[in-house]
Amino acid sequence: LARGAAVPDLAGRHVVISAGGTREPLDPVRYLGNRSSGKQGYALARTAAARGARVTLIEANTGMADPAGADVVHVGSARQLREAVLKAAPGADVVVMAAAVADFRPAVYAEGKIKKKDGQEQAPIALVRNPDILAEISAARPRPGQLVVGFAAETDEVLANGRQKLRRKGCDLLVVNEVGEHRTFGSEENEAVVLSADGGETPVPRGPKEGLADTVWDLVVARLG
Ligand code: CTP
Ligand code: CA
Repeated sequence: LARGAAVPDLAGRHVVISAGGTREPLDPVRYLGNRSSGKQGYALARTAAARGARVTLIEANTGMADPAGADVVHVGSARQLREAVLKAAPGADVVVMAAAVADFRPAVYAEGKIKKKDGQEQAPIALVRNPDILAEISAARPRPGQLVVGFAAETDEVLANGRQKLRRKGCDLLVVNEVGEHRTFGSEENEAVVLSADGGETPVPRGPKEGLADTVWDLVVARLG
């Protein structure tokens, strides 16, 4: 589908998309983060709006301007992202978790800057698990017939790990990217396979992130009641 001239096949639908990467604060000047650019999530937001959807974009640390035609919620950490997704999800026909969520966060937030001590070789930082937002929203389905889409970046056994992850998360579609040093993160293009809970496997050849986004929406539209 050409952008701007898209068929309005998401008209009347509300989609919630998370994009970017969470930052887990350690102290007032430091955080644990990741390299997600947010470009794929923004491409999903633009293409959904072009296809007529009402779009809520939950943005974490992308530094990008709000896309036209979307309601944007800005968050920082995984726990803030969870709050925003849980708040928006009950009104959504589709929830897409394109954000890279930190698996762990510092166990405590230090109100003052953490200082090292003389002779201290071990980092004074303990980590605890973050909630799994995708698994939680897939299990809860706050709106009947709602579809949930996840993303997965894998470096090895890409399809087998993706299939396992799809089952473990309980989502309807999982977009699986093969990642490595020079692949995907921050780039303008993407290459992926979209796995579906009904056993489907849709390869998406290397191309602009809008192309992958439109394939996701095609698969979503085919599954919406
Ligand atoms: N995700 C999430 N909450 C988390 C971690 C991940 O909602 N705490 C979502 C991501 O937004 C993505 C999907 O789960 O849509 C897969 O993320 P990924 O990091 O590949 O999955 P994990 O279960 O964290 O597995 P891994 O141990 O391979 O990192
Ligand atoms: Ca993870």
